[in-house]
Formats: sequence, C-alpha cells, structure tokens
Amino acid sequence: RRRIAILISGRGSNMEALITAAAGADFPAEIVTVISNHPDAAGLQIARGHGIETVAIPHHDHVDRAAHEVEIGRVLAECRPDIVCLAGYMRLLTPRFVATWEGRMINIHPSLLPAFPGLHTHRRALLQGVRVHGCTVHFVTEAMDDGPIIAQAAVPVLSGDTENSLAVRVLLAEHKLYPMALSMVARGEVSMRDGRAVFSGTGDGDPQTR
Ligand code: GAR
Repeated sequence: RRRIAILISGRGSNMEALITAAAGADFPAEIVTVISNHPDAAGLQIARGHGIETVAIPHHDHVDRAAHEVEIGRVLAECRPDIVCLAGYMRLLTPRFVATWEGRMINIHPSLLPAFPGLHTHRRALLQGVRVHGCTVHFVTEAMDDGPIIAQAAVPVLSGDTENSLAVRVLLAEHKLYPMALSMVARGEVSMRDGRAVFSGTGDGDPQTR
C-alpha cells in the first residue's frame, strides 16, 4: 500500500473521506500523517479521532513561504509518503516545493477546471449562470489549479440554488471523487508524464466509467 500524507487548512471533510476510504481492505493506500498550517483546524481533531498522526505547522511561525515549506518537508521526510494529497490546503506552494513532489502531489478543487480556478467557485458559477458545475482532482503544478486532470465529477446547478446549496452538492461529489482519484494514482493507473496525465491499466482510460 502506498503511503499518503494529507495537507489541510480547515474542516477536513475531504481528508476524512480519504481516511474512511483508506480504512477499506482493498484500498491501495494508507494515510500516514495529516499536516495543517492551522493548529486549530477542525480536521486535525478528526484525524486524531481516526488514530492518525497529526502535525500542526503554523505558517505564521516562519519568516516566509519557503521557510514554512522547509518545515513541512522535514515532517514529510520523516514519514516518507509516496503521495501528498492537498485537501482544502489553502496556501500557495512555491515552485521548488511543487517540483519536489511533481507527479506525486494531487489536489481537489471545487469546480470543473479549467473553469473557475481560485476562490469562491460556487458563487462565481452561479453568477456566470453555468448549468453544470462540479469538482476536479488534478496533479499539482506551479500554476494554481492548473495541473493535469485526473478525474472530474459534474453536478447540476438547479434553479433556486444558493452558494450554500450548490457547495453542499459539490462537496458530496468531492467525497466520492477524491478517494477514487487517489486510488487510481496509488495503483499507477494514472501518472504525470511530460506535463500530462497518462492513463493506463484496465478499462478504456476514462475515470468516469470506473
Ligand atoms: C473543498 O471544497 C475543497 O475542494 C476546497 O476547499 C474545501 C475544503 O473542504 N479546496 C479549494 O478551494 C482549494 N483551492 P474540506 O476541508 O472539508 O475538505
């Protein structure tokens, strides 16, 4: 089983979805540590409740982004993950850190990328009037919310939707999508080559059909 570290900043519901999935006998990965840049992140309590080692590395304790990442790198070097999952980790990463984990770091984003990178995706989707919205798991590259796409799930935008009702619908999809995407990466069914996601293994390469 591949070793997984999860980086969070807050609530940790996607982290918990990964932890729950990884508790299954057939899941190809185990969660070895959860790191948060906020010591009071609710997700840290949840992780501890599942018996998982947690580490808080407050970014305010460091002079700059790079120094904070050195500390994160130190913790990662100790627990030797094969894959790093960003799950609501709300800090930008330096090109150096991204390069260190290239092809081995994935992120979930609450929109159908390349639509709506950045913040407030649900509000922007409603303002834009899109009728289909969703979430994306992708390999992390230097540009924010821009890496090769591993898997996506779509949800309808319904008349009468509010930012909150849409967020809830997307979040439910995220909780299914992220474990599936992680298992694909952990099994080597998708990898990053030359800046693209390459699908292999059984099936037709379409994650939506798995
Ligand atoms: C999730 O909706 C995730 O997709 C989003 O933050 C939320 C975290 O919730 N991530 C981003 O916006 C990253 N740019 P969670 O802590 O309950 O998983």
